[in-house]
Amino acid sequence: METTLIILKPDAVQRGLSGRIISRFEDKGLQIVGMKLMRISGELAADHYGVHKERPFYNSLVSFMTSSPVVVLAVMGNNAIAVSRKMMGATFGSNAEPGTIRGDFGVSNSFNLIHGSDSPEAAKEELERFFTREELVECGRAIDTWVYDMSGDEPE
Ligand code: RTP
Ligand code: MG
Repeated sequence: METTLIILKPDAVQRGLSGRIISRFEDKGLQIVGMKLMRISGELAADHYGVHKERPFYNSLVSFMTSSPVVVLAVMGNNAIAVSRKMMGATFGSNAEPGTIRGDFGVSNSFNLIHGSDSPEAAKEELERFFTREELVECGRAIDTWVYDMSGDEPE
């Protein structure tokens, strides 16, 4: 089981798409183990997107991410990092495939609705950045025995 960090960016929250996007993760069978509405500070945005510091879009990215509240989610499940990235679709809304979150809900390249960790290392770092240990609440779900084949050692 993996856990990934998802951010519903300011455009998703302002456009009232949070519920519909969260539903997609629930529909898929992934489990929400952390969720909060928050305003990202300049410092937190700089930390989170530090890897893009030299890119031409960096300043506008930081001002976008701090412009209005976001919803941050910790999402757990089998292969959750790659599954979530696939559900999100390509970075730019203008070429994200229909059926993906970015493909279905947006057409902008910069305002692309959602962030998801892109590797296990990034997920660990990002979850620690956005959530305290107490804010992550894992509990078994009654439906897990139908979401997964639980007959072996690991959920399949
Ligand atoms: P994210 O980190 O937000 O999950 O997105 P990503 O991996 O799909 O894309 P990444 O290359 O990491 O870019 C981070 C975010 O920067 C904005 N961006 N704008 N206008 C542009 O050319 C441009 N390129 C990137 C997007 O908000 C992108 O998600
Ligand atoms: Mg990225």
